[in-house]
Amino acid sequence: MAREPIISGGGGEKPPPIPPSIPGGMSAPDPGDDRFNEELRPKKLVDVIGQRKVVERLQIMLNACRKRKEPLGHLLFDGPPGLGKTTFATVLPRELGVECHITSGPALSAPKDLLPYLTNLTYGSVLFIDEIHRLPKTVEEFIYPVMEDFRVDIALGEGVNARTVNLKLKPFTLIGATTRSGMLSAPLRDRFVNRQHLEFYSTEELTEIVTRNAAKLRTQIVSAAAHEIAIRSRGTPRKSNNLLRWTRDFVDSEADGQVTLTLAQAALEKLEIDSLGLDHQDRRYLKTLWTVFAGGPAGLQAIGHSMNVPPDTLEDEVEPFLLRLGFIQRTPRGRTISAAALEHLKLSGDINLPPGHLF
Ligand SMILES: Nc1ncnc2c1ncn2[C@@H]1O[C@H](COP(=O)(O)OP(=O)(O)O)[C@@H](O)[C@H]1O
Ligand SMILES: [Mg+2]
Repeated sequence: MAREPIISGGGGEKPPPIPPSIPGGMSAPDPGDDRFNEELRPKKLVDVIGQRKVVERLQIMLNACRKRKEPLGHLLFDGPPGLGKTTFATVLPRELGVECHITSGPALSAPKDLLPYLTNLTYGSVLFIDEIHRLPKTVEEFIYPVMEDFRVDIALGEGVNARTVNLKLKPFTLIGATTRSGMLSAPLRDRFVNRQHLEFYSTEELTEIVTRNAAKLRTQIVSAAAHEIAIRSRGTPRKSNNLLRWTRDFVDSEADGQVTLTLAQAALEKLEIDSLGLDHQDRRYLKTLWTVFAGGPAGLQAIGHSMNVPPDTLEDEVEPFLLRLGFIQRTPRGRTISAAALEHLKLSGDINLPPGHLF
């Protein structure tokens, strides 16, 4: 039996001077994630649904590192929000029975913020840095020797008295998560031995997630209703969880008993989630691109300004799914809308297309 891991750290602006460890395998709150998702987060690799190729590769890595009794190689997870990066990052130390300390890029404003985490690491333990693309340059450069040689270089004094002190660390595993692997500098990216890209989930996989999570929440749901929630989840388990929560509230408030297909449809209608899972913000993005920018090409910044939404939010949360649906294209000159998007939103009458303009 593997020893129960210790998972610590989490949400605050600044890391504590010494990272507290919460015994008993309790997972700490993930910044940006709520308690509800935390309850439903798979704890072991066998509980993870979908991402079969990633799971198989991780299983091989775990087997090898158990056999050799060595720490896991540094690992990077990338993919849009809500696809399971934090889940995988917290499942791995549990599988190995090692400690896990959690922090995030924005919480580490200077190398000294990372020191308490590093000096507390035990052999083979895991340090998880969420949103690693938001690490300041100085911290990023500080991390290179840490990752490569498990060594910290600390500069002491100034001018002629300046000297560097090296501190040896215990070999450990750095797990990074990012929604933007493109924003990581090449030297940092290359220091991750393994990179795993998470893809959107199929409707079948999401149906299974909804069904399992409904059981965890002791909510009765018919399979057609679970399927309906899955279809409208934009390929994203976190969205499935949120829609399931809403549907459960709706049923408890408006009816009683189990979640039927009719009730699920009514609940999702109330949320203004359409048949493909597009929400108000997705539709607003497409309508803005169509009506304000005549279908594009339009720059991300300009679209963001028109919508009064930070361009980062659009790039992380809205565009990946629209790209996957083929509703927009990213061209060197900006974003353009597709015929499929116009058809879905029934927008064709709004503006007269110049011949050959877009399609
Ligand atoms: N492969 C999966 N199988 C089952 N549930 C999942 C899976 N991936 C994510 N989830 C669910 O979605 C929620 C959000 O996932 P999370 O790992 O926090 O996403 P990310 O860190 O990529 O934004 C989790 O709490 C969990 O309930
Ligand atoms: Mg996360």
